[in-house]
Amino acid sequence: MAWRQRLSSRLARQREAGLWRERLTMTPAPGSRVRDFASNDYLGLARDPRLAEAQSQGARRFGSGAGASHLVNGHLLPHQLLEERLADLTGRPRALLFSTGYMANFGTLQALCDRQTHIFQDRLNHASLLDGAQLAGARSRRFHHRDLADLDRLLGRAEEGGPRLVVSDAVFSMDGDMADIDGLATACARHDAWLMIDDAHGIGVLGENGDGCVGRRFDAEQVPILVGTLGKALGTAGAFVAGDDLLIDTLIQFARPYIYTTAQPPGMAMATLRALDILETEPERRRRLQAHLDHFRTRAAELKLPLLPSPTPIQPLLLGDSARVMRWSLALREAGFMVGAIRPPTVPQGQGRLRITLSSGHRREDIDELLERLAELLTADPEPLP
Ligand SMILES: Cc1ncc(COP(=O)(O)O)c(C=O)c1O
Repeated sequence: MAWRQRLSSRLARQREAGLWRERLTMTPAPGSRVRDFASNDYLGLARDPRLAEAQSQGARRFGSGAGASHLVNGHLLPHQLLEERLADLTGRPRALLFSTGYMANFGTLQALCDRQTHIFQDRLNHASLLDGAQLAGARSRRFHHRDLADLDRLLGRAEEGGPRLVVSDAVFSMDGDMADIDGLATACARHDAWLMIDDAHGIGVLGENGDGCVGRRFDAEQVPILVGTLGKALGTAGAFVAGDDLLIDTLIQFARPYIYTTAQPPGMAMATLRALDILETEPERRRRLQAHLDHFRTRAAELKLPLLPSPTPIQPLLLGDSARVMRWSLALREAGFMVGAIRPPTVPQGQGRLRITLSSGHRREDIDELLERLAELLTADPEPLP
């Protein structure tokens, strides 16, 4: 009885606060046209039939499932090849495959840190990083968003005691803005700290070859721990941590979310390998995405849509109030557009927003129509935007 009461009143509070989360059952057909401005499929690869073919070939050759964890006997040839390829993409000696980005972040912090260590995180870091620091039981601080002076001050205060680790998203998932990786690396060098960058939204999209925000521009001295995810621009699933032998061996020995879980299906690794081929051979996808982005921002400015100042395919429109976020996203859905309706606790109170993401798979006319719908909603809304 106590449990029923406890859960029911928690759910009631969630509903009353306008924070009820709902799943939509989507049935997108392979190769279908994208009017989806909510997903992270930035290069339009998630429904590419070539990836599906590689995945089914992988399943036929190696099995639908890996059958065991990497450390038992689930580490199959496609996993090994994929790790080598990801190390090469990012210019790191090695890479280690995880089943999800959440597990990669969570597991890395758990394996590296303990009560003796200090972790410094950007205030807007992804939940998996914040949760990982908690799991590790580390002494954890959050610096103001992209504020190097604040970081410097906190690092200076923690000179005594155990090792220091600075952690930041490269592209902030709900704001679309980017960390100053150069500045972070310099602060770390000054205070003898390590730097961990989560490049979930940069890999495949940013950098000259889609190698992300870190890639080969920052070496493993400057950014010793690099995390990338495969379920966004690469269109598949999973994640990796890239770095030197010392880091990767530590993760293999101690990262519980790596050790105690079944390896990802080998067909998935084959599909990611295929996505990496496409990344190399079809650079026009990145160019097209950039052209969409430039067009979207120019047109939004003409329509006086108050977008956050983001240079990446994540283009948030700040609406403030959660009820308005739901109203606008529902109206867009009725017009045939999917956008992310983001409310607290994913973002701070009063900072609800539409999270609009662009993809090279979009058509220009769909982008224009979405912008027009947004402008109509803006005109029809009686309350001023924050
Ligand atoms: C910045 C960031 N890191 C990590 C993750 C987690 O990755 P995954 O979806 O593979 O668990 C996400 C998104 O989901 C993210 O936005």
